[in-house]
This record gives sequence, C-alpha cells and structure tokens, in this order.
Amino acid sequence: MSPIDAVEETFKKIFHEEPLLFRSPGRVNLIGEHTDYNDGYVLPAAIHRAIYFAIAPDDGPECRLIALDMNEEHRFPVDHSAYSKKGWPNYLMGVVDQFTKAGHRIPGFHCVFGGDVPIGAGMSSSAAIEAGLAVALNSLFHLGMDDLSLVKLAQRAENEFVGVRCGIMDQYINVFGKQDTVLQIDCRSLESRHYPFEYDVALVLFDTRITHSLSSSEYNRRRGECAEGVAAIHKRFPEVTHLRDVSPEMLADCRSSMDAVIFRRCHYVVGENERVLRACSALKLGDLKAFGELMIQTHEGLSREYEVSCPELDFLVQILKGNPHVYGSRLMGGGFGGCTINLIESHAVEPISAMVREQYRRRFQHDPKMYVTSISSGTSIVNANDHVRT
Ligand code: GLA
Repeated sequence: MSPIDAVEETFKKIFHEEPLLFRSPGRVNLIGEHTDYNDGYVLPAAIHRAIYFAIAPDDGPECRLIALDMNEEHRFPVDHSAYSKKGWPNYLMGVVDQFTKAGHRIPGFHCVFGGDVPIGAGMSSSAAIEAGLAVALNSLFHLGMDDLSLVKLAQRAENEFVGVRCGIMDQYINVFGKQDTVLQIDCRSLESRHYPFEYDVALVLFDTRITHSLSSSEYNRRRGECAEGVAAIHKRFPEVTHLRDVSPEMLADCRSSMDAVIFRRCHYVVGENERVLRACSALKLGDLKAFGELMIQTHEGLSREYEVSCPELDFLVQILKGNPHVYGSRLMGGGFGGCTINLIESHAVEPISAMVREQYRRRFQHDPKMYVTSISSGTSIVNANDHVRT
C-alpha cells in the first residue's frame, strides 16, 4: 500500500471520518551547505519522497498524534506542549506552540502521519513534519497565514522547541518547491529564483546509514564559530553583520586576527556562497560539468575546513570523484553522516551503484542505501474541497 493510502486508511479506521490529506516533501540540496544561517545562498529542491498527514479537528482541546511508521501515539492538551523524551512529538508540538505564540488559538485536532522520507538520512524529514503540519493547520483552521510566515514559524518550532538552531533552507524549500525546478534561495532577502532542472542525469543519494548523535550539538557549535568569525571581521569592517557580507579579500585581511579554526570555518562559508552563484551561472548555460566540479569543491571544503564530514562520506565521494559518468558528488545537509548527493548520467546509474555498494561494503562491512530522487513540488493539500483554503 502506498504511504498516503496507509495514512488515510489508518485515520479512517481510528476516527471514522474523512480527513484532510496533505503531502509534505523531503528535500535535496544541490549546493550551498551551511550557508543559510550565514544569510547566504542555497540551491535545494523538493523531492518525490514525502510525509503525508491525515488531519481533522477534534471536539475537545486535545491533540492526538499518531506516527504510523513508528506505531506510536502521543496526546497533549493544545494549550500546553511539554517537551517529550520520545523525540518525534516535539517536531509537531513545536509547531502548535508557535501558532499559539503567534496569537492563534488552535482548537484540538487529531492527526495520523507517515511517509517515505527516511529519518536521519539528511533529506529533512524534520522540516517535512514541521512545515507540513504548519500548512495543514493553517488550512484546517483557516488561520490565513501566508506561506513565508508559515516557513518562518516552522523554522522557529525547530529552533525553539526541538532545540536545533537550523537555518531556513529546509522549511523554505518544503513550502516553495516546484516540480523539476531547483530554487536559488537568498537566505537574507528570502527571495528565490527558479532554475529548471531537466537533464539526462539522475540525482542519486548514497546513504552511509551513519547517524551521529553529535550532529545537532556540532551544528550549533558551527553556528557559534561563524558568529565568532563575524565578530572578528566586524572590528575591521564594521559593515559586516554576517559572513554573507565578507569577500575572500576581506577575510584574508583579517586572517592574522582570527583563530585558525575560526578562519577555516569562515573560509569555507565565504567560498561556498561564491560557489552557489557560480553553480547557478553554470546551470544557466546547462554546463553540468562545471556544476559538478563545484560540488566536489564543496565537499572538500566541508570535509577539511568546516569539518562536518566522516570517513564514510569521504569514501563515497572519493570513489566517484573523476568517474567520467559522475558530474559531481558531495555530502549533503548538516553532515556527520547521512547521504552524499551525486549527479550521475542516467544510463550509468546501475553499474555505478553496484560498484559503490561493493566497494563500500568491502571497506565498512555494511551496505550503503541508495535513493534515486526526482524533483517534485512543495507541500500542498491532496484532497482539496470547498471548505478549505488551498
Ligand atoms: C540542516 C539545516 C539547514 C542547513 C543544513 C546545512 O539541514 O536544517 O538549515 O543549515 O543543515 O546546509
């Protein structure tokens, strides 16, 4: 049974009514990593893998959440979301909490959700849950919030309730993603530009199946290191408020006044912002070779300067670098595990994935997972009817 059918059927079985159904996609990011919280540029796309929500209002002030894939349930009073040790309810309670903080009174509701965005693989299942529920509640209760406000609300849910100080990329692409299109998001102005992405290449993710518990604490630490860099640069260039404002020359000027680690972090981010812009120019020319070379440079920066890689990710990139059928390969997302993203000529996907699997297994004694993704649209209602604003 497809995930959406399973979610709908479970809902009907438990609640004996017709729910509203929403589809909320995972995402890939082609280039622009750890730039979003530095006010920089990113180039993500929403994918066909998604979390589905079946949802309806409740008679009382209670929320019942059912996580189909985990076979777990969580209940809480709508006006009192308390942090749950179970983990997953926090992504949803954080959203309810943010609606309340934004001055909206959310009535009780019940909801079944599940899907095929793997957890911890770097495809942003968390943003799919947060932004998906934000869009769903906005529709269900006619709250009238615009899309960008919902994106920001979902990001705040993760920042404040879950406690990861993520940037805005994942929630943004979740809501604004478009079919067969990558979005260059300017994380300062929050404007975006669309680039059609219809080439004879496959977007393949190789999943290390490593999830480091370090990742959220190291993520927050990287943010702190960037802020430290900005503070040092600001002394010399008072106009600088974020690494986005820093050119390679300015950074070089400040090198002697910065700790070596902080310099490396800043050097990566400043270079990465430039790479996104160059990657977009390459896309305009349809030059996937140039695009892929930038992806490789990104990986090297993430591994050596930003230090968010791990041996498994480095290995996956190493064995594909220079392969004539692979345009680019790099770790994707926050790092410390999860997936690499690879641009592979469509006809070569099978032999290449067989080779990757074999070499990876030989080196690490377990199989990597592989996902061939395609680019789809952002969160939307699936069964729109006339009492719902879409
Ligand atoms: C995670 C965060 C994003 C972004 C990436 C790294 O996915 O949620 O905001 O910072 O890491 O680019």
